Amino acid sequence: MRYGLEMLPTGLALVDHYRQKPPLSVDYGSPSLRLRQKKISAKGELLVRAVKEKPGARVLDMTAGLGTDAFILASYGHDVTMLERSKTVYLLVKDALKRARQDAELKPVVARLTLHHWDSTRPFLPAIGFDAALVDPMFDEKKKSALPPGNMQMLQAFLGRGAELQPFLTAAQELGIRRTIVKRPRLDRAPAKNAVRPVYQLTGRSSRLDVFFNQV
Ligand SMILES: C[S@@+](CC[C@H](N)C(=O)[O-])C[C@H]1O[C@@H](n2cnc3c(N)ncnc32)[C@H](O)[C@@H]1O
Repeated sequence: MRYGLEMLPTGLALVDHYRQKPPLSVDYGSPSLRLRQKKISAKGELLVRAVKEKPGARVLDMTAGLGTDAFILASYGHDVTMLERSKTVYLLVKDALKRARQDAELKPVVARLTLHHWDSTRPFLPAIGFDAALVDPMFDEKKKSALPPGNMQMLQAFLGRGAELQPFLTAAQELGIRRTIVKRPRLDRAPAKNAVRPVYQLTGRSSRLDVFFNQV
């Protein structure tokens, strides 16, 4: 089998047996995340700006992935419920959260994160009363863009691409969530002719956030 989960001294990791690539594991205490966390502000973090709430808002991350976005929002002070469809990715994040709870600096941050193994296009009934939803699946891109950095590259190779936006928007609307934030590569094409259009966009260096308002 090409991929396997292995418990390494650094934590649970996804190993690619065909390629000489570093194993994929999640570490919320990495130097780059700690630095980003220290500098966090509504002005500097596009995602925080898109949520547009004071610390303490409730955000539903419908595509948790490695949980970086959720961790950033929790570092700002938001409470984030993370839904992840892949059991493997869910286990990697679960292990990282367990390790982070042992770290005095990270503990109060990860206390604001709740993780579930769930396909978020199916109604997640406990998710009532959320202020915003975040959607960052791996969309099929019409135009070839640069490969994503490090861990995301391996995640993409492991999971593959292919997601449609509408089922997420419908699920968020059914849950009565007013604001849905969709993350896309910065240079991703405008939505197809008949597709629902965002109310506004925030553009960063490598990604773009499309903000939709739901009728609730
Ligand atoms: C690009 S990653 C998300 C990265 C994440 N924003 C982060 O900061 O690490 C996309 C993730 O969405 C998950 N996903 C895709 N469709 C999903 C669905 N319907 N329900 C839950 N998770 C889903 C994939 O399994 C994958 O782990």
